[in-house]
Amino acid sequence: MTRAVASAALLLLPLLYVLHCSNNVDAAQGQTSQPNIVILLADDLGWSDVGWRNPFMPTPTLDKMAREGMILNQSYVQQTCSPSRAALMSGRYPHHLGLQYNTIKSGWNIHLADDQPILPEALKKLGYATHMVGKWHLGFCNWRYTPTYRGFQSFYGYYNAAEDYYTHIENNGYDFRDNDQVDKSAVGLYSTNLFNDRAIRIINDHNTSQPLFLYLAYQAVHGPLQAPQEYIDRHCKHIPDNNRKIKCGMIAALDESVKNVTHALKQRGLMDNTFILFSSDNGGPVHEYASNYPLRGSKITLWEGGTRAAAFAYAPSFLQKTNSSYEELIHITDWYPTLVEAAGGGSSVANIDGVSQWKNLLSGGPGPRQEFIYNMDEVRNDSAIRRGRYKLIQGYARNPNGWFVPPELEKALNETTVDIHGEKNSPPYSLYDLETDPEERHNIIDSHQTVFHNLKARLDSYRPSLVPTKHYDYIRASKPDNFNGNWSPGWC
Ligand SMILES: *[C@@H]1O[C@H](CO)[C@@H](O)[C@H](O)[C@H]1NC(C)=O
Ligand SMILES: *[C@@H]1O[C@H](CO)[C@@H](O)[C@H](O)[C@H]1NC(C)=O
Ligand SMILES: *[C@@H]1O[C@H](CO)[C@@H](O)[C@H](O)[C@H]1NC(C)=O
Ligand SMILES: *[C@@H]1O[C@H](CO)[C@@H](O)[C@H](O)[C@H]1NC(C)=O
Ligand SMILES: *[C@@H]1O[C@H](CO)[C@@H](O)[C@H](O)[C@H]1NC(C)=O
Ligand SMILES: *[C@@H]1O[C@H](CO)[C@@H](O)[C@H](O)[C@H]1NC(C)=O
Repeated sequence: MTRAVASAALLLLPLLYVLHCSNNVDAAQGQTSQPNIVILLADDLGWSDVGWRNPFMPTPTLDKMAREGMILNQSYVQQTCSPSRAALMSGRYPHHLGLQYNTIKSGWNIHLADDQPILPEALKKLGYATHMVGKWHLGFCNWRYTPTYRGFQSFYGYYNAAEDYYTHIENNGYDFRDNDQVDKSAVGLYSTNLFNDRAIRIINDHNTSQPLFLYLAYQAVHGPLQAPQEYIDRHCKHIPDNNRKIKCGMIAALDESVKNVTHALKQRGLMDNTFILFSSDNGGPVHEYASNYPLRGSKITLWEGGTRAAAFAYAPSFLQKTNSSYEELIHITDWYPTLVEAAGGGSSVANIDGVSQWKNLLSGGPGPRQEFIYNMDEVRNDSAIRRGRYKLIQGYARNPNGWFVPPELEKALNETTVDIHGEKNSPPYSLYDLETDPEERHNIIDSHQTVFHNLKARLDSYRPSLVPTKHYDYIRASKPDNFNGNWSPGWC
């Protein structure tokens, strides 16, 4: 395997040379030699809400891409939406941004820090056309914190955490924009279709003399549970539970959109020079019928089920089609430097926490990362670190903390959900060996005191750099009543 990977890497050398050494337009092809970059971010998709882990899930497109690309099997994200998106855009841990404690709720005056350039700004500087479609959720109290002021030349989507998929209303306010303008033409239309159509339009209108960066942050499959009936009827009849059936329909629509978007890239002749990252922003919320089986826990927890994402990389021209998985540690902060390196911008970015994985993704070789911080929350007094095979959790990793078996697997596996509640009796520290126990069933702290003390020292070494959770207030002036019924910037 290693030898095969190495020789494949040798074959790739001429291509790598082109990718790394030239930012110029290749006149012969009328195309740039920098790769197009597409991030397909699913919202709240669970570890086993995908067909390659759960054969009951109707995701033929994602399954095929995962197989032809590389499943990122140890790809870690934050436990909730805003912190994860902040880490993706900035390359920094949420605890270095003051965003470790919570998501950004409607009307709260907090936002992603604007003291350093973020990913779209960096790619724009490297010559990219930069487009964002979908959910922002990084604050909008002032225009300067919104996507078109943070490096995206276009934005089509919404600012808040969640909303109705058809009315686009959240907490009594309409939240849907085309660039800076409120877009009422979206009313009544399902967001997966809207985002699909806009992404395809961007691809079709793209001037290929420039490389393209498309950040397509789907609303799917976050709550509320809403799917067009046709997807449920066509793809989800076999799912026993009604709510899970709707979730399945949402997932089927997402998969179809990814099929459409990749088809558009092929039609435009862009696919051969495109790198696609598919990932969930956090683990699935089990109380909303997502499944992270067999991993423990849920969205919002520090358990693997909240933080280990369903993810793959797909790039037919530069990744070997090994039908294999990348088992090296990746943290969501790594994508900023990884994609900057892919774009020819050098192998590191200053003042961030991520490390570039680009060369390792290409070669399949050992990764640059030995450890990462899951989160460090001084308000709740919890934190966790992964180092090598071990994970140390300080404080309580939060509820739901059991093992949730989705209804469609209960029969096949002859297993049911084990929902344990340990908050009151949570030990101050718990240690797991994720190599032998990825399901976090056995706290081995008593028998591994040396490992515990080493990891605790590593974890504590991060504490001095923590930026305290940003103070936030609910601002009455944010009320949609003040903006013709729309969620709108302009109140901080
Ligand atoms: C991915 O990770 C899981 C959980 O640690 C492990 O069981 C599996 O063997 C890994 N590899 C693949 C290809 O799924
Ligand atoms: C995918 O494309 C087909 C054909 O244009 C369209 O009917 C369908 O609605 C698209 N899917 C989504 C999820 O938008
Ligand atoms: C694409 O951009 C190039 C360089 O700016 C320009 O010369 C060309 O006319 C553009 N093509 C189209 C179809 O707009
Ligand atoms: C890909 O790997 C899986 C799991 O290891 C295996 O079942 C399948 O047959 C492989 N497919 C191909 C096309 O090699
Ligand atoms: C299912 O599991 C139960 C309890 O673990 C066991 O008693 C039973 O024999 C199992 N049934 C099958 C069909 O394996
Ligand atoms: C935080 O939790 C740790 C154990 O996980 C405990 O030792 C420490 O005293 C707690 N700190 C505060 C301020 O409560």
